[in-house]
Parts: sequence; C-alpha cells; structure tokens
Amino acid sequence: MQTKTLGTLGRTSAIGLGLMGMSDLYGPSDRAESIATIHAALDAGITLLDTGDFYGMGHNEMLLREALDRRDRDQVQISVKFGGQRGPEGSFLGFDARPAAVKTSLAYSLQRLGSDHIDVYRPARLDPDVPIEDTVGAIKEMIDAGYVRHVGLSEVGAETIRRAHAVHPVSDLQIEYSLISRGLEGEILDTCRELGIGVTAYGVLSRGVISGHWSADRGGAPRDFRSRSPRFSGDNLDRNLELVERLRVIASQLGVSVAQVAIAWVAAQGNDIVPLVGARRRERLAESLGALDVELTAEQLAAIESAVPKGAAAGDRYDATQMAMLDSER
Ligand SMILES: NC(=O)c1ccc[n+]([C@@H]2O[C@H](COP(=O)([O-])OP(=O)(O)OC[C@H]3O[C@@H](n4cnc5c(N)ncnc54)[C@H](OP(=O)(O)O)[C@@H]3O)[C@@H](O)[C@H]2O)c1
Repeated sequence: MQTKTLGTLGRTSAIGLGLMGMSDLYGPSDRAESIATIHAALDAGITLLDTGDFYGMGHNEMLLREALDRRDRDQVQISVKFGGQRGPEGSFLGFDARPAAVKTSLAYSLQRLGSDHIDVYRPARLDPDVPIEDTVGAIKEMIDAGYVRHVGLSEVGAETIRRAHAVHPVSDLQIEYSLISRGLEGEILDTCRELGIGVTAYGVLSRGVISGHWSADRGGAPRDFRSRSPRFSGDNLDRNLELVERLRVIASQLGVSVAQVAIAWVAAQGNDIVPLVGARRRERLAESLGALDVELTAEQLAAIESAVPKGAAAGDRYDATQMAMLDSER
C-alpha cells in the first residue's frame, strides 16, 4: 500500500475507507458484507478508517468494533466525528460541540469501539454557538489525558482552521472534494498547506453520482441522503450524468473505470490529500483500490478537467439547510 502524510497523524494509507454507508444514509446495507469489506481493506493495507458516532446512532462504531475483533488495533488509525444530534428514528436535530459534549461523546465512543483511544477526533461541523477554541480545547484536554491522539476538523473554513490550530496542531481537515466539488481549492487548501495540515477528501464520487454506476432510474429510498440531494434530483441529475459520460470516454481510453478516474484525479492533487472512499462492498473496494495504480499524466489531468470543468456540477452538494451549516462554504 502506498502511503501519504496527514499533518500530525503522519504516515497513513494513500486511500482511506469511510464506513458511513455501512450503517446509514445510503439505503440498506449488508452487515456481513460490510465487515468483509473492512477486512479486505485492512488486508490490502488500508490503515485509515473513518466513522462518526451519529452514523446509525452508534451502529457504525459497533460494526467497526466487531470488524476489528482479533485484528491489531494499533495497526489501524480510527477517525471519529462527533456532534451530530439524532433522534431515535434517525432525524437530524442539530449540532453540539460544547466541551461537556466533547467529553461525553468521546466516553461513549470509546465504549462502543472497545478501545482506550481514538486516533483522530473531530467535530463534524462547526457549532455556531460554541467558539472553536472551546471545542478544540476540550479535545486537547482529552489528548493530554491519553484518550485521543490527534485533533481533526471537518467542513470548516480558513479562519476556523487557523483558530483551531492555534489551540492545538490539527492533523487533517475532512472536506468534500471531487471533480465536481472543488471548494477546497484556494484559500482553504492554501491555509492547510501553510500550517502543515493534511486533507481527507470525502465524497470523491459525489456520493456515487460520478461513480459511473448511478443511473437516472435508481431513485433513493426515503432515508437515503440522495433522495434529498440537489445533485440527484430532476434535471440536475441528468446534467450530472452527462458529465459522467464525458468521463467515461476518458476512462475507456485509459482502460480503467469511471470511478477509478474520479478517485485517481483526487489522489493526484497532492501528497497531503487522502481520498476517503465510501465502499461498502468488496467489489466496490477493489475498484477503488485499483485507482491507486492509475497514474495520471499532466495531459490526462488536463483532459479530465476539460471534460468536467470546475463548477460544472448541477446542484449544490447538500440541501439548503445543510449547506447553511457548512463553515467551509462561507
Ligand atoms: N465530514 C463529513 O461531513 C462527511 C460527510 C460524508 C461522508 N464522510 C465520510 O466520507 C466517507 C466517504 O463518503 P461518501 O460515502 O459520501 O463517498 P463516495 O465514495 O463519494 O460515495 C459512496 C457511494 O458511491 C458508490 N460507489 C460506486 N462505486 C464505488 C466505488 N468504486 N467505491 C466506493 N463507492 C462507490 C457507493 O455505492 P453503493 O451504493 O454501490 O455502495 C456509495 O453509495 C463516508 O463513509 C464518511 O466516513 C464525511
């Protein structure tokens, strides 16, 4: 497995596995296949595993614990997001990153994971009611106490990154980044690079829309995130799938799949940017891992960007309510 460096976390696998869809938000998933996928990822040398305490309201962390049973915990870097408030039926109720919530959430996560520490702990969003210094200050206390190893951030902008980093060095910013979600580029990425902070890029396939496997007749189930996503609805979806067909031409010239081109493009953007793929089946994981063998030349990168120019996506990456919660979009 190739490696990259993510700020204070140091060396990590060149691709990370995000577990969210194994518990939540993308319709039904198969528990045995999810665990087999995590095992296949570990066997392939993936060390970075990303979860959130609110993914399936604890389900995702308990799934990870089961998958890591009889595996070497110290060979794995577990990244956990916290703060999302959920109701029993799965509704999203808001966000809480007060210092007491940091410590309480951490205590519960450690129990669910069956671990004495978390490698990277991060608020999933900026809590508008809590200064980032207070949230990161509480994580710092937990680092000093040995329960957490590194501070991470998620979907925040340059000013918040600087304020957080001044309290404690940040390992990585987790942010949506793909051929059709390029808000990272410019001030946010420049700030990360200036401060030596890495990037874990999620949604590299834009939740599947640019994977080459989505089609207009594949509607989302009621609790599927994509049933409310502007990029997956109506004319927007048709226009986004046209972009995919342009990518497919390039992929077939290269003898690889559309998803592999999309992942390889993100991977090529820097040694400090690690794509987090949302594979939840071994077949999809194998396809994602194949992207690591795709080395794109400058001409090929230019051809990809001309097929899918910056800003070409139709529709925002979240619905209006969720967009308003993104400090990274301000
Ligand atoms: N910080 C944040 O705010 C935030 C937000 C969202 C996610 N994340 C993290 O990032 C991870 C990845 O995000 P994501 O799941 O939205 O990303 P993604 O990889 O863009 O999308 C995953 C979707 O793409 C489909 N897909 C098709 N081909 C694939 C392939 N070869 N490999 C992987 N997936 C393929 C999957 O399909 P199937 O339906 O066939 O399984 C799945 O539904 C999450 O698991 C989570 O840990 C973080």
